[in-house]
Amino acid sequence: MSADVIIGCQWGDEGKGKIVDKRVSSYRANARCAGGHNAGHTVIVDGQKYVFHMAPSGLLHSGVYNAIGNGCVIDLKALGSELEGLQKAGVQITPENFGISYGAHVIMPYHVEEERSKLSKSIGTTGRGIGPAYTDKARRSGVRISDLYNIDKPEIRDRVLGIIESRYRIDKERFLLTMEKHYSAGKVKRWLAKALLTSLDKDFDVDPRKVLRELQDAFQPMKQYADDVSYVLNRMLAQGSRILIEGAQGAGLDVDHGTYPNVTSSNTTIGGVLTGLGIEPHQIGRVTGVVKAYATRVGSGAFPTELDNAIGEGIRERGIERGASTGRPRRCGWYDAVQVADAVKKNGVTELAVMKLDVLDEEPGIRLCDSYELDGREARFPASDALLALCKPLFENFDGWMTSTKEARNMKELPKEAKAYLKRLEMLAGVPITYVSVGPDRTQGIEADWL
Ligand code: GDP
Ligand code: IMO
Ligand code: MG
Repeated sequence: MSADVIIGCQWGDEGKGKIVDKRVSSYRANARCAGGHNAGHTVIVDGQKYVFHMAPSGLLHSGVYNAIGNGCVIDLKALGSELEGLQKAGVQITPENFGISYGAHVIMPYHVEEERSKLSKSIGTTGRGIGPAYTDKARRSGVRISDLYNIDKPEIRDRVLGIIESRYRIDKERFLLTMEKHYSAGKVKRWLAKALLTSLDKDFDVDPRKVLRELQDAFQPMKQYADDVSYVLNRMLAQGSRILIEGAQGAGLDVDHGTYPNVTSSNTTIGGVLTGLGIEPHQIGRVTGVVKAYATRVGSGAFPTELDNAIGEGIRERGIERGASTGRPRRCGWYDAVQVADAVKKNGVTELAVMKLDVLDEEPGIRLCDSYELDGREARFPASDALLALCKPLFENFDGWMTSTKEARNMKELPKEAKAYLKRLEMLAGVPITYVSVGPDRTQGIEADWL
Protein backbone atom coordinates (compact mmCIF):
# COMPACT_ATOMS: atom_id res chain seq x y z
CA MET A 1 0.00 0.00 0.00
CA SER A 2 2.33 2.67 -1.27
CA ALA A 3 0.10 4.97 -3.28
CA ASP A 4 -1.32 7.77 -1.17
CA VAL A 5 -4.00 10.10 -2.47
CA ILE A 6 -4.80 13.77 -1.93
CA ILE A 7 -8.44 14.42 -2.75
CA GLY A 8 -10.69 17.49 -2.50
CA CYS A 9 -13.85 16.90 -0.45
CA GLN A 10 -15.76 20.08 -1.33
CA TRP A 11 -16.10 21.92 -4.67
CA GLY A 12 -12.41 22.26 -5.44
CA ASP A 13 -9.78 24.81 -4.39
CA GLU A 14 -9.51 23.28 -0.92
CA GLY A 15 -5.73 23.74 -0.84
CA LYS A 16 -4.65 20.45 -2.45
CA GLY A 17 -1.58 22.06 -4.02
CA LYS A 18 -0.24 23.11 -0.64
CA ILE A 19 -0.66 19.62 0.86
CA VAL A 20 0.98 17.96 -2.14
CA ASP A 21 3.91 20.34 -1.87
CA LYS A 22 4.21 19.69 1.88
CA ARG A 23 4.24 15.93 1.57
CA VAL A 24 5.67 15.08 -1.83
CA SER A 25 9.36 15.17 -0.95
CA SER A 26 9.02 11.80 0.80
CA TYR A 27 7.57 10.20 -2.34
CA ARG A 28 9.25 8.90 -5.51
CA ALA A 29 6.49 10.19 -7.78
CA ASN A 30 3.59 12.59 -7.96
CA ALA A 31 0.77 11.99 -10.44
CA ARG A 32 -2.27 13.81 -11.74
CA CYS A 33 -4.99 11.33 -12.67
CA ALA A 34 -7.92 13.39 -13.94
CA GLY A 35 -9.01 16.80 -15.21
CA GLY A 36 -6.99 19.28 -17.18
CA HIS A 37 -5.92 22.88 -16.89
CA ASN A 38 -9.27 23.73 -15.34
CA ALA A 39 -7.37 23.02 -12.12
CA GLY A 40 -5.29 25.68 -10.38
CA HIS A 41 -3.15 24.42 -7.52
CA THR A 42 -1.27 27.08 -5.58
CA VAL A 43 2.03 26.48 -3.84
CA ILE A 44 3.80 29.27 -1.95
CA VAL A 45 7.43 28.85 -1.01
CA ASP A 46 9.31 31.70 0.71
CA GLY A 47 6.84 34.22 -0.66
CA GLN A 48 7.19 32.93 -4.24
CA LYS A 49 3.87 31.82 -5.69
CA TYR A 50 3.52 28.97 -8.20
CA VAL A 51 0.15 28.01 -9.70
CA PHE A 52 0.07 24.55 -11.27
CA HIS A 53 -2.67 23.91 -13.80
CA MET A 54 -1.83 20.74 -15.72
CA ALA A 55 1.69 20.09 -14.47
CA PRO A 56 1.83 18.17 -11.18
CA SER A 57 2.74 20.28 -8.13
CA GLY A 58 5.65 17.99 -7.19
CA LEU A 59 7.81 19.53 -9.92
CA LEU A 60 9.37 21.87 -7.38
CA HIS A 61 11.01 18.90 -5.66
CA SER A 62 14.07 17.23 -7.08
CA GLY A 63 14.10 13.44 -7.21
CA VAL A 64 10.34 13.28 -7.77
CA TYR A 65 8.95 11.89 -11.06
CA ASN A 66 5.88 13.93 -12.03
CA ALA A 67 3.29 12.27 -14.19
CA ILE A 68 0.18 13.27 -16.10
CA GLY A 69 -1.99 10.18 -16.25
CA ASN A 70 -4.17 8.77 -19.02
CA GLY A 71 -7.29 10.12 -17.27
CA CYS A 72 -6.28 13.71 -17.99
CA VAL A 73 -7.14 15.95 -20.93
CA ILE A 74 -4.34 18.16 -22.19
CA ASP A 75 -4.27 21.48 -24.00
CA LEU A 76 -0.81 21.22 -25.56
CA LYS A 77 -0.28 24.95 -26.01
CA ALA A 78 -1.39 25.71 -22.46
CA LEU A 79 0.85 22.96 -21.06
CA GLY A 80 3.73 24.21 -23.18
CA SER A 81 3.41 27.73 -21.74
CA GLU A 82 3.03 26.37 -18.22
CA LEU A 83 6.22 24.33 -18.50
CA GLU A 84 8.03 27.28 -20.05
CA GLY A 85 6.95 29.52 -17.17
CA LEU A 86 8.18 26.99 -14.62
CA GLN A 87 11.50 26.61 -16.44
CA LYS A 88 11.92 30.38 -16.47
CA ALA A 89 11.38 30.34 -12.72
CA GLY A 90 14.27 27.90 -12.44
CA VAL A 91 12.38 24.60 -12.28
CA GLN A 92 14.24 21.75 -14.02
CA ILE A 93 12.01 19.70 -16.32
CA THR A 94 13.43 16.64 -18.08
CA PRO A 95 12.12 13.21 -19.12
CA GLU A 96 13.67 11.95 -15.87
CA ASN A 97 11.30 13.99 -13.71
CA PHE A 98 8.29 14.51 -15.98
CA GLY A 99 6.10 12.16 -18.00
CA ILE A 100 2.89 12.41 -19.98
CA SER A 101 0.81 9.28 -20.50
CA TYR A 102 0.36 8.05 -24.08
CA GLY A 103 -3.29 7.56 -23.13
CA ALA A 104 -4.07 11.14 -22.12
CA HIS A 105 -6.51 12.89 -24.45
CA VAL A 106 -5.78 16.08 -26.35
CA ILE A 107 -8.04 19.12 -26.00
CA MET A 108 -8.60 20.13 -29.63
CA PRO A 109 -9.15 23.72 -30.82
CA TYR A 110 -12.78 22.90 -31.62
CA HIS A 111 -13.35 21.76 -28.04
CA VAL A 112 -12.54 25.24 -26.81
CA GLU A 113 -14.71 26.78 -29.55
CA GLU A 114 -17.61 24.55 -28.50
CA GLU A 115 -17.38 25.84 -24.95
CA ARG A 116 -18.45 29.24 -26.16
CA SER A 117 -21.92 27.75 -26.62
CA LYS A 118 -24.80 28.61 -24.31
CA LEU A 119 -24.94 25.30 -22.47
CA SER A 120 -21.48 25.38 -20.96
CA LYS A 121 -21.88 29.06 -20.12
CA SER A 122 -24.97 28.21 -18.13
CA ILE A 123 -22.99 26.01 -15.71
CA GLY A 124 -20.09 28.44 -15.59
CA THR A 125 -17.29 26.18 -16.79
CA THR A 126 -13.70 27.34 -16.89
CA GLY A 127 -14.03 27.61 -20.70
CA ARG A 128 -10.99 25.41 -21.30
CA GLY A 129 -12.65 22.77 -23.49
CA ILE A 130 -12.68 20.15 -20.72
CA GLY A 131 -16.27 18.92 -21.19
CA PRO A 132 -16.08 18.62 -25.00
CA ALA A 133 -12.74 16.79 -24.78
CA TYR A 134 -14.14 14.21 -22.34
CA THR A 135 -17.28 13.94 -24.50
CA ASP A 136 -15.15 13.02 -27.53
CA LYS A 137 -13.21 10.54 -25.39
CA ALA A 138 -16.46 8.82 -24.38
CA ARG A 139 -17.87 8.79 -27.89
CA ARG A 140 -14.59 7.38 -29.20
CA SER A 141 -13.70 10.31 -31.39
CA GLY A 142 -10.86 11.60 -29.26
CA VAL A 143 -7.23 12.16 -30.18
CA ARG A 144 -4.66 10.88 -27.72
CA ILE A 145 -1.03 11.67 -27.01
CA SER A 146 -0.17 8.28 -28.46
CA ASP A 147 -1.82 9.32 -31.77
CA LEU A 148 0.41 12.37 -32.05
CA TYR A 149 3.44 10.33 -31.01
CA ASN A 150 2.75 7.83 -33.81
CA ILE A 151 1.35 10.26 -36.38
CA ASP A 152 3.79 9.09 -39.05
CA LYS A 153 1.89 5.78 -39.21
CA PRO A 154 -0.62 6.19 -42.10
CA GLU A 155 -3.56 4.44 -40.33
CA ILE A 156 -3.22 6.72 -37.32
CA ARG A 157 -2.73 9.88 -39.38
CA ASP A 158 -5.80 9.09 -41.50
CA ARG A 159 -7.96 8.46 -38.45
CA VAL A 160 -6.92 11.76 -36.84
CA LEU A 161 -7.41 13.73 -40.07
CA GLY A 162 -10.81 12.04 -40.48
CA ILE A 163 -11.86 13.06 -36.96
CA ILE A 164 -10.88 16.69 -37.54
CA GLU A 165 -12.49 16.82 -40.98
CA SER A 166 -15.77 15.27 -39.82
CA ARG A 167 -15.97 17.62 -36.87
CA TYR A 168 -15.96 20.73 -39.05
CA ARG A 169 -18.14 19.08 -41.71
CA ILE A 170 -20.84 18.23 -39.16
CA ASP A 171 -20.79 21.81 -37.86
CA LYS A 172 -21.12 23.13 -41.42
CA GLU A 173 -23.95 20.75 -42.31
CA ARG A 174 -25.84 21.68 -39.17
CA PHE A 175 -25.44 25.37 -39.98
CA LEU A 176 -26.58 24.94 -43.57
CA LEU A 177 -29.64 22.99 -42.46
CA THR A 178 -30.65 25.69 -39.97
CA MET A 179 -30.19 28.41 -42.57
CA GLU A 180 -32.27 26.48 -45.07
CA LYS A 181 -35.07 26.05 -42.50
CA HIS A 182 -35.07 29.75 -41.64
CA TYR A 183 -34.94 30.74 -45.31
CA SER A 184 -37.85 28.43 -46.26
CA ALA A 185 -39.92 29.74 -43.34
CA GLY A 186 -39.30 33.26 -44.61
CA LYS A 187 -37.45 34.25 -41.44
CA VAL A 188 -34.26 35.12 -43.32
CA LYS A 189 -34.21 37.14 -46.53
CA ARG A 190 -32.39 35.72 -49.55
CA TRP A 191 -29.69 38.42 -49.60
CA LEU A 192 -29.00 37.94 -45.87
CA ALA A 193 -28.81 34.14 -46.21
CA LYS A 194 -26.40 34.53 -49.09
CA ALA A 195 -24.22 37.05 -47.26
CA LEU A 196 -24.12 34.91 -44.11
CA LEU A 197 -23.26 31.77 -46.07
CA THR A 198 -20.43 33.48 -47.92
CA SER A 199 -18.92 35.02 -44.84
CA LEU A 200 -19.36 32.02 -42.50
CA ASP A 201 -18.33 29.48 -45.10
CA LYS A 202 -14.77 30.69 -44.64
CA ASP A 203 -14.95 29.75 -40.95
CA PHE A 204 -16.05 26.23 -41.80
CA ASP A 205 -13.56 25.86 -44.57
CA VAL A 206 -10.89 24.43 -42.32
CA ASP A 207 -8.07 22.36 -43.71
CA PRO A 208 -7.69 19.38 -41.34
CA ARG A 209 -4.00 19.09 -42.31
CA LYS A 210 -3.41 22.63 -41.06
CA VAL A 211 -5.12 21.87 -37.73
CA LEU A 212 -3.02 18.72 -37.39
CA ARG A 213 0.18 20.60 -38.26
CA GLU A 214 -0.50 23.10 -35.50
CA LEU A 215 -1.09 20.27 -33.03
CA GLN A 216 2.12 18.59 -34.09
CA ASP A 217 4.03 21.85 -33.61
CA ALA A 218 2.63 22.23 -30.10
CA PHE A 219 3.40 18.57 -29.38
CA GLN A 220 6.98 18.67 -30.63
CA PRO A 221 8.58 20.02 -27.42
CA MET A 222 6.35 17.69 -25.39
CA LYS A 223 7.17 14.51 -27.32
CA GLN A 224 10.22 13.74 -25.19
CA TYR A 225 8.00 13.37 -22.12
CA ALA A 226 5.48 10.92 -23.62
CA ASP A 227 5.66 7.73 -21.60
CA ASP A 228 3.84 4.60 -20.48
CA VAL A 229 2.96 6.23 -17.17
CA SER A 230 0.97 3.30 -15.87
CA TYR A 231 3.95 0.96 -16.41
CA VAL A 232 6.41 3.43 -14.87
CA LEU A 233 4.30 3.94 -11.74
CA ASN A 234 3.54 0.24 -11.27
CA ARG A 235 7.25 -0.55 -11.61
CA MET A 236 8.07 2.02 -8.95
CA LEU A 237 5.44 0.55 -6.66
CA ALA A 238 6.77 -2.96 -7.27
CA GLN A 239 10.23 -1.72 -6.28
CA GLY A 240 8.82 -0.45 -3.01
CA SER A 241 8.75 3.25 -3.90
CA ARG A 242 5.87 5.41 -2.76
CA ILE A 243 3.77 7.60 -5.01
CA LEU A 244 1.51 10.53 -4.20
CA ILE A 245 -1.57 11.11 -6.31
CA GLU A 246 -2.71 14.69 -6.74
CA GLY A 247 -6.46 14.84 -7.09
CA ALA A 248 -7.96 17.75 -9.00
CA GLN A 249 -11.28 19.54 -8.44
CA GLY A 250 -13.33 18.08 -5.56
CA ALA A 251 -15.90 15.39 -4.78
CA GLY A 252 -18.77 17.87 -5.29
CA LEU A 253 -17.65 18.31 -8.92
CA ASP A 254 -17.44 14.58 -9.73
CA VAL A 255 -19.48 13.70 -12.83
CA ASP A 256 -21.13 10.77 -11.00
CA HIS A 257 -21.11 11.73 -7.33
CA GLY A 258 -21.19 15.52 -7.53
CA THR A 259 -24.01 18.00 -7.99
CA TYR A 260 -24.89 16.93 -11.54
CA PRO A 261 -25.12 18.68 -13.99
CA ASN A 262 -23.12 21.48 -12.34
CA VAL A 263 -19.99 19.36 -12.25
CA THR A 264 -16.87 18.84 -14.28
CA SER A 265 -16.72 16.01 -16.83
CA SER A 266 -14.41 13.57 -15.08
CA ASN A 267 -14.37 11.37 -12.00
CA THR A 268 -12.65 13.54 -9.46
CA THR A 269 -13.21 10.94 -6.73
CA ILE A 270 -11.16 7.82 -5.94
CA GLY A 271 -12.36 5.81 -8.95
CA GLY A 272 -10.68 8.36 -11.20
CA VAL A 273 -7.36 7.53 -9.54
CA LEU A 274 -7.52 3.91 -10.70
CA THR A 275 -8.89 4.47 -14.20
CA GLY A 276 -6.80 7.60 -14.68
CA LEU A 277 -3.46 6.02 -13.82
CA GLY A 278 -3.85 2.27 -14.24
CA ILE A 279 -2.14 1.44 -10.97
CA GLU A 280 -2.85 -1.63 -8.88
CA PRO A 281 -5.92 -0.91 -6.72
CA HIS A 282 -4.51 -2.71 -3.67
CA GLN A 283 -1.63 -0.20 -3.62
CA ILE A 284 -3.91 2.62 -2.45
CA GLY A 285 -3.01 3.49 1.13
CA ARG A 286 -3.70 6.79 2.88
CA VAL A 287 -6.42 8.93 1.35
CA THR A 288 -6.20 12.48 2.63
CA GLY A 289 -9.43 14.41 2.23
CA VAL A 290 -8.69 18.11 1.91
CA VAL A 291 -11.28 20.60 3.18
CA LYS A 292 -11.35 24.28 3.96
CA ALA A 293 -12.57 25.31 7.42
CA TYR A 294 -15.48 26.85 5.51
CA ALA A 295 -16.80 26.23 1.98
CA THR A 296 -16.41 27.81 -1.45
CA ARG A 297 -17.77 27.18 -4.91
CA VAL A 298 -16.85 28.72 -8.29
CA GLY A 299 -19.37 28.78 -11.10
CA SER A 300 -23.07 27.95 -10.97
CA GLY A 301 -24.76 25.43 -8.74
CA ALA A 302 -26.59 24.85 -5.48
CA PHE A 303 -24.74 25.86 -2.33
CA PRO A 304 -26.91 25.37 0.79
CA THR A 305 -24.50 27.07 3.21
CA GLU A 306 -23.68 30.03 0.95
CA LEU A 307 -23.23 33.37 2.71
CA ASP A 308 -24.52 35.92 0.29
CA ASN A 309 -23.85 38.73 2.76
CA ALA A 310 -21.15 40.70 4.58
CA ILE A 311 -19.83 37.58 6.35
CA GLY A 312 -19.31 35.84 3.00
CA GLU A 313 -17.72 39.01 1.65
CA GLY A 314 -15.32 39.08 4.64
CA ILE A 315 -14.32 35.44 4.13
CA ARG A 316 -13.77 36.07 0.40
CA GLU A 317 -11.54 39.04 1.16
CA ARG A 318 -9.49 37.47 3.96
CA GLY A 319 -9.22 34.13 2.15
CA ILE A 320 -8.41 35.86 -1.16
CA GLU A 321 -11.08 33.65 -2.67
CA ARG A 322 -10.55 34.17 -6.39
CA GLY A 323 -10.17 31.33 -8.89
CA ALA A 324 -6.52 30.32 -9.38
CA SER A 325 -7.37 29.45 -13.01
CA THR A 326 -9.91 32.01 -14.12
CA GLY A 327 -9.66 34.77 -11.50
CA ARG A 328 -13.42 34.55 -10.89
CA PRO A 329 -14.58 35.44 -7.35
CA ARG A 330 -15.41 32.28 -5.41
CA ARG A 331 -18.73 32.05 -3.61
CA CYS A 332 -18.21 31.55 0.14
CA GLY A 333 -20.25 29.82 2.84
CA TRP A 334 -20.11 27.86 6.10
CA TYR A 335 -18.52 24.42 6.32
CA ASP A 336 -20.90 21.71 5.18
CA ALA A 337 -20.36 18.53 7.20
CA VAL A 338 -23.04 16.64 5.24
CA GLN A 339 -21.08 17.14 2.02
CA VAL A 340 -17.78 16.21 3.63
CA ALA A 341 -19.15 13.06 5.32
CA ASP A 342 -20.44 11.91 1.91
CA ALA A 343 -17.04 12.57 0.31
CA VAL A 344 -15.26 10.73 3.15
CA LYS A 345 -17.33 7.58 2.53
CA LYS A 346 -17.18 7.65 -1.28
CA ASN A 347 -13.43 8.18 -1.38
CA GLY A 348 -12.41 5.94 1.50
CA VAL A 349 -10.84 9.00 3.12
CA THR A 350 -8.61 7.93 6.01
CA GLU A 351 -7.74 11.40 7.35
CA LEU A 352 -8.62 15.05 6.89
CA ALA A 353 -6.43 18.07 6.23
CA VAL A 354 -8.28 21.21 7.31
CA MET A 355 -7.08 24.29 5.45
CA LYS A 356 -7.44 28.05 5.88
CA LEU A 357 -8.42 27.99 9.56
CA ASP A 358 -6.79 31.44 9.86
CA VAL A 359 -9.41 32.92 7.53
CA LEU A 360 -11.98 32.47 10.34
CA ASP A 361 -9.74 34.25 12.90
CA GLU A 362 -11.83 37.43 12.85
CA GLU A 363 -15.23 35.77 12.81
CA PRO A 364 -17.05 36.37 16.15
CA GLY A 365 -19.51 33.51 15.57
CA ILE A 366 -18.96 30.47 13.36
CA ARG A 367 -21.56 28.04 12.06
CA LEU A 368 -21.42 24.66 10.43
CA CYS A 369 -24.11 22.68 8.73
CA ASP A 370 -24.54 19.24 10.34
CA SER A 371 -27.65 18.03 8.50
CA TYR A 372 -30.09 18.71 5.67
CA GLU A 373 -33.84 18.63 5.62
CA LEU A 374 -35.65 17.76 2.41
CA ASP A 375 -39.45 17.34 2.23
CA GLY A 376 -39.63 17.36 6.03
CA ARG A 377 -37.09 14.55 6.42
CA GLU A 378 -33.36 14.34 7.04
CA ALA A 379 -31.51 13.97 3.74
CA ARG A 380 -28.07 12.82 2.68
CA PHE A 381 -25.93 14.78 0.21
CA PRO A 382 -27.73 14.28 -3.12
CA ALA A 383 -25.75 13.77 -6.33
CA SER A 384 -28.09 16.25 -7.97
CA ASP A 385 -27.85 19.99 -8.15
CA ALA A 386 -31.64 20.41 -8.34
CA LEU A 387 -32.20 18.34 -5.20
CA LEU A 388 -29.36 20.00 -3.31
CA ALA A 389 -30.99 23.35 -4.04
CA LEU A 390 -34.09 22.09 -2.19
CA CYS A 391 -32.16 20.93 0.88
CA LYS A 392 -32.50 23.12 3.95
CA PRO A 393 -29.24 23.28 5.91
CA LEU A 394 -29.44 22.95 9.71
CA PHE A 395 -26.63 24.65 11.60
CA GLU A 396 -24.62 24.36 14.81
CA ASN A 397 -23.16 27.55 16.31
CA PHE A 398 -19.65 28.00 17.66
CA ASP A 399 -17.90 30.86 19.42
CA GLY A 400 -15.21 32.46 17.32
CA TRP A 401 -11.68 32.81 18.72
CA MET A 402 -11.01 36.38 17.54
CA THR A 403 -7.27 35.97 17.66
CA SER A 404 -4.65 35.10 15.07
CA THR A 405 -3.86 31.43 14.52
CA LYS A 406 -1.28 32.16 11.79
CA GLU A 407 1.70 31.56 14.07
CA ALA A 408 0.41 28.35 15.66
CA ARG A 409 2.66 25.36 14.93
CA ASN A 410 1.12 22.80 17.25
CA MET A 411 -2.36 22.08 18.53
CA LYS A 412 -1.59 23.48 21.98
CA GLU A 413 -1.04 26.90 20.45
CA LEU A 414 -4.54 27.04 19.02
CA PRO A 415 -7.27 28.87 20.99
CA LYS A 416 -9.70 26.54 22.76
CA GLU A 417 -12.60 27.71 20.57
CA ALA A 418 -10.68 26.71 17.42
CA LYS A 419 -9.90 23.31 18.94
CA ALA A 420 -13.57 22.78 19.83
CA TYR A 421 -14.58 23.64 16.25
CA LEU A 422 -11.99 21.26 14.76
CA LYS A 423 -12.99 18.47 17.16
CA ARG A 424 -16.56 18.78 15.93
CA LEU A 425 -15.45 18.68 12.27
CA GLU A 426 -13.48 15.56 13.04
CA MET A 427 -16.43 13.90 14.74
CA LEU A 428 -18.83 14.68 11.91
CA ALA A 429 -16.37 13.46 9.27
CA GLY A 430 -15.66 10.25 11.19
CA VAL A 431 -11.92 10.35 10.43
CA PRO A 432 -9.03 12.06 12.23
CA ILE A 433 -7.69 15.47 11.27
CA THR A 434 -3.95 15.06 10.70
CA TYR A 435 -3.08 18.52 9.40
CA VAL A 436 -4.39 22.02 10.08
CA SER A 437 -3.28 24.82 7.79
CA VAL A 438 -3.08 28.37 9.15
CA GLY A 439 -1.62 30.30 6.23
CA PRO A 440 -0.70 29.87 2.57
CA ASP A 441 3.03 29.34 3.05
CA ARG A 442 4.57 25.87 3.18
CA THR A 443 5.59 26.48 6.79
CA GLN A 444 2.22 27.67 8.08
CA GLY A 445 0.57 24.57 9.43
CA ILE A 446 0.17 22.09 12.24
CA GLU A 447 0.72 18.34 12.10
CA ALA A 448 -2.15 17.45 14.40
CA ASP A 449 -0.82 15.54 17.39
CA TRP A 450 -3.91 15.07 19.47
CA LEU A 451 -4.76 11.60 18.22
P1 GDP B 1 -6.32 23.77 -4.83
O1 GDP B 1 -6.93 23.94 -6.17
O2 GDP B 1 -7.07 22.78 -3.97
O3 GDP B 1 -4.85 23.45 -4.87
O4 GDP B 1 -6.45 25.18 -4.10
P2 GDP B 1 -6.16 26.63 -4.74
O5 GDP B 1 -4.72 26.82 -4.91
O6 GDP B 1 -7.03 26.83 -5.93
O7 GDP B 1 -6.76 27.58 -3.63
C1 GDP B 1 -6.29 27.58 -2.31
C2 GDP B 1 -5.83 29.00 -1.99
O8 GDP B 1 -5.69 29.13 -0.59
C3 GDP B 1 -4.46 29.34 -2.55
O9 GDP B 1 -4.43 30.70 -2.85
C4 GDP B 1 -3.51 29.01 -1.40
O10 GDP B 1 -2.31 29.76 -1.46
C5 GDP B 1 -4.35 29.43 -0.24
N1 GDP B 1 -4.10 28.70 1.02
C6 GDP B 1 -3.82 27.38 1.20
N2 GDP B 1 -3.79 27.08 2.51
C7 GDP B 1 -4.07 28.23 3.17
C8 GDP B 1 -4.23 28.56 4.54
O11 GDP B 1 -4.13 27.74 5.43
N3 GDP B 1 -4.53 29.86 4.85
C9 GDP B 1 -4.69 30.82 3.89
N4 GDP B 1 -4.98 32.04 4.29
N5 GDP B 1 -4.55 30.54 2.59
C10 GDP B 1 -4.26 29.27 2.23
P1 IMO C 1 -8.99 22.67 -8.60
O1 IMO C 1 -8.24 21.42 -8.99
C1 IMO C 1 -12.84 24.77 -8.48
C2 IMO C 1 -15.63 24.02 -11.79
C3 IMO C 1 -15.91 25.17 -12.72
C4 IMO C 1 -17.35 24.84 -13.13
C5 IMO C 1 -17.34 23.33 -13.21
C6 IMO C 1 -17.18 22.77 -14.61
O2 IMO C 1 -8.20 23.91 -8.68
O3 IMO C 1 -9.68 22.46 -7.29
P2 IMO C 1 -15.08 22.63 -16.26
O4 IMO C 1 -14.25 23.72 -16.88
O5 IMO C 1 -14.30 21.67 -15.46
O6 IMO C 1 -15.95 21.94 -17.25
O7 IMO C 1 -16.09 23.41 -15.27
O8 IMO C 1 -16.25 22.90 -12.41
N1 IMO C 1 -14.18 23.68 -11.62
C7 IMO C 1 -13.48 23.97 -10.53
N2 IMO C 1 -13.80 24.67 -9.41
N3 IMO C 1 -11.62 24.21 -8.58
C8 IMO C 1 -11.28 23.49 -9.67
O9 IMO C 1 -10.10 22.82 -9.77
C9 IMO C 1 -12.21 23.38 -10.73
N4 IMO C 1 -12.18 22.77 -11.93
C10 IMO C 1 -13.41 22.96 -12.47
O10 IMO C 1 -15.83 26.40 -12.04
O11 IMO C 1 -18.25 25.21 -12.11
MG1 MG D 1 -7.69 25.45 -7.40
